[in-house]
Amino acid sequence: MRILGIESSCDETAAAIVEDGRRILSNVIASQADEHKLYGGVVPELASRRHCENILPVVRKALADANMTIDEVDGIAVTYAPGLIGALLVGVSFAKGLALMANKPLIPVHHTEGHAAANYLVHPDLKPPYLGLIVSGGHTRIAEVLDYTTFRTVGKTRDDAAGECFDKCARAMGFPYPGGVHVDKAAQRGNASAYQLPKTKMEGNPYDFSFSGLKTYIVNLLHHAEQCGKTENTDDLSAALQKAIADTVTEKTIAAAQELGYTKIALSGGVSANSGVRDTLAAACEKHGFTLCMPPLALCGDNAAMIAAQGYYNYLAGITADETLNAVASKELRGESA
Ligand code: KG4
Ligand code: ZN
Repeated sequence: MRILGIESSCDETAAAIVEDGRRILSNVIASQADEHKLYGGVVPELASRRHCENILPVVRKALADANMTIDEVDGIAVTYAPGLIGALLVGVSFAKGLALMANKPLIPVHHTEGHAAANYLVHPDLKPPYLGLIVSGGHTRIAEVLDYTTFRTVGKTRDDAAGECFDKCARAMGFPYPGGVHVDKAAQRGNASAYQLPKTKMEGNPYDFSFSGLKTYIVNLLHHAEQCGKTENTDDLSAALQKAIADTVTEKTIAAAQELGYTKIALSGGVSANSGVRDTLAAACEKHGFTLCMPPLALCGDNAAMIAAQGYYNYLAGITADETLNAVASKELRGESA
C-alpha cells in the first residue's frame, strides 16, 4: 500500500510517498528557513503564503520521484494538527481537494505521532509497544506507544518545548534561526561545566518538563552581560545548555521506562538531531540494557515521509477523514482527551 504524505504544519512544505509504512519511495522537502531567518523566527503569514506557492510543485515532485501517478496512490495522509493554523490549513485544504479529485481515502495525521513514526522508516524491527521520547520545536513529550495508533502521554512540557529553549537561547547568543543546530556546533567546542545552569524541580508529575526557567536564566545572563559591556563565552554556554537539556530528557525517559517496564525506547522530533541528546540517551540506554531507536538526521526534522508512515497505520486502523476535516492548532495524541 502506497501512501502520499503531505506536511505543512510549520515552515517546511513536504510531500513523500511511503510503501507499507516502512519504505520511502520519495521524500521532497521545500524549506522556508532561509526566508524566516531574516526575521529571527517563523512568520506565520509568510509560512502560509509559501506553502500555498510550493505545495503543488512539491507534491508533483514526490509523485515524479517515485515514478507514480496520483491514480497509483492508495491514500492521502495529511498533517491536520498541531501547528500554525494558517500553515496547516494549506496542507489540509490541498489534501482534501486532491483526495476528492483522485477519489482516494483522506487520512488525518497528528504531527507529533508522525515524528514518532519516522523511526519505522529506518528500524524495520521497531513495533509497539515501546516508550517514545518526542522532542521538537513545539513539543517535548514522553509517551507510551501502546499500538501504532494508541498513545499515552507519560509527561510533557508545561511551558516551552526543548527546541524552543534551544532556539530562544541561540537567538540571545546571536546565532541565526533556527538556532538549535548552531548551539549543537558551538557546544562541540565548549566546556559544559563552565556554567552552572538552574535545574527545574517539578511538582506533581515527575515526568513533565519545564524549560522556560532555563531559557529565562540564559537570556537574562546574556542581556545582563551586554548591559555591562561584557561578553559570555557562547561555546561554553552552548555546551552547558545542551548538557542541561540532554540530561533532563534522558533522566526522565530512563526513569519512566524503568517505572513502566519498557526496555525499548524510540527518540524522535527535530531536537533528536542534537548530538548531546543522541549521545547522552544512547549511553544511558546502553548502561541500562535498553534498546534505543533514533532516526537518521535527515528524518529528525519535519518531513512528509513520517506523515505517510503514520498515515499507513492510521488507515489500517480505520482512521480516515471525510470532507469536513479541519486543521487544529493544538491537539492531544490519539487516544487521549484534549
Ligand atoms: O520537529 P521540528 O523540525 O519542528 C517542530 O515540529 O517543531 O523541530 C525543530 C526544532 C527547532 O527548534 C530546531 O532548532 C531544533 O528542532 N533542532 C535542533 C537541532 N536540529 C534541529 N536542536 C538542537 N540541536 C540540533 N542539532
Ligand atoms: Zn515537527
